[in-house]
Amino acid sequence: MSFLFPPELIKLPEFHSEQEKREYMQKMFTRKGWYPSIGTGGMGIDFVNKPEYIAEITHAGLLPTMSAVILALGNPEYREKLFGPREQRIIRNRTRFARQKNIEVLLDRIKKMRELNPYGIVAINLMHAVGDYKEMVEAIGNAGEKNEKGEVIGNGIDILVVGAGMPRDLGTDMLRFPHMKYIPIVSSAKAAKFMLLFAKKNKGRLPDGFYIEHPDTAGGHLGKRNVEDSGFDPVQTITELRQIIKDFYGENVHVPVIYGGGVSYREDIDRALEWGYDSVNIGTRALLTKESGMPDDIILTYYLNADKVETNLKSPAGLPSNAIPNPEMSAMDRAKDIVKDCISCIKTCQYLDAAKEALKAGKEKVITESYCIADKLSMTRHGLKGGLLFSGKGLEIIKNDILYRNQKTGEAVIPHIRQMIEFILNPENKRPTITG
Ligand SMILES: Cc1cc2nc3c(=O)[nH]c(=O)nc-3n(C[C@H](O)[C@H](O)[C@H](O)COP(=O)(O)O)c2cc1C
Repeated sequence: MSFLFPPELIKLPEFHSEQEKREYMQKMFTRKGWYPSIGTGGMGIDFVNKPEYIAEITHAGLLPTMSAVILALGNPEYREKLFGPREQRIIRNRTRFARQKNIEVLLDRIKKMRELNPYGIVAINLMHAVGDYKEMVEAIGNAGEKNEKGEVIGNGIDILVVGAGMPRDLGTDMLRFPHMKYIPIVSSAKAAKFMLLFAKKNKGRLPDGFYIEHPDTAGGHLGKRNVEDSGFDPVQTITELRQIIKDFYGENVHVPVIYGGGVSYREDIDRALEWGYDSVNIGTRALLTKESGMPDDIILTYYLNADKVETNLKSPAGLPSNAIPNPEMSAMDRAKDIVKDCISCIKTCQYLDAAKEALKAGKEKVITESYCIADKLSMTRHGLKGGLLFSGKGLEIIKNDILYRNQKTGEAVIPHIRQMIEFILNPENKRPTITG
């Protein structure tokens, strides 16, 4: 099937060698008009790591992002070992096992992805909030083939995208991985400035780009403090950020800035580029495809039937998040079990803290305020009912698109990546206006 990518948008070319790719990347990060117009977001746990998913996105000229978040749970056998009935009971051992497997699965996912996609530019997402953040940065930076000097010369990851927190030493860590670019995810120009100040103060590398994520509409964790509308202004944000970039990098350096959150139609892409962003990132749209790691049954049962997407404060990461409310999701675990089942996946887990506090106070309490994110999100990944259903706010509208209906029978269908991309690139597919 021929694939149309309108000429006014930037499509990544196909590369035939590592060198060709790296030369392009050098320009891509410093020249206006070289960054691809569309990328896809990293979605944990393991929703976006299938080799065919990444390859399809690459072949369409977009920039795919894998996920490096709690990958052990992407493997059904390891998930069963950690959360199944005969699981290892000592928390230290469970955590060690999970972290070891996180790296093992990461390297396996990268290897398999590269078998199908040897020279495509591929990013990976990591959350600063995860307990093994440092080890994962190291593992990602060292993934691939190396020369005798220990430099990665192929089959690795090209771009590290870091969200959910502001790692002060990321700029210095990145000095050791010159083959990789890095992009912090932020939701304000001020946060981007902090990242620049940290990097400068620590004599690290300045970020190679920024991903500005809309704090109200994006899927998963959000860059704001409460559930209220944040008042985020994408135009003001890019204007301020361009000035900050000038101050830090100099007058003539172009640093790509990506915009994401609620980008679902061609007009959303065009608008973001008009505002002055270099590219957009799509999350939920990419998740609702045949090739993603989201099981078909979960898409059909929950996503395409969702009444609403709610912002709530329940995530144990202590950040507001957007998700489809799931009444089947039981978050009522006994304090004792929470502590016993923990794999220390999040640095400051509020669920674990609440459970520990209850136990300290001598209460055999049921904790309802939050949930175990590792357990509940990986349930969804493996098609189990009652899991956590992260989603962008845009789902409320896009689920009605003809893209998700069989035109003859009216039945719900899941599109392939290519059909999804063709749909969003076509200017005739307009964002529906909401009335009433
Ligand atoms: C199921 C799901 C999981 C996600 N997981 C992560 C994650 O692990 N790290 C991250 O930085 N962003 C995560 N995101 C955010 C996406 O990468 C993307 O930035 C966002 O969904 C864009 O908004 P959209 O869904 O409206 O397109 C997740 C989003 C969804 C829907």
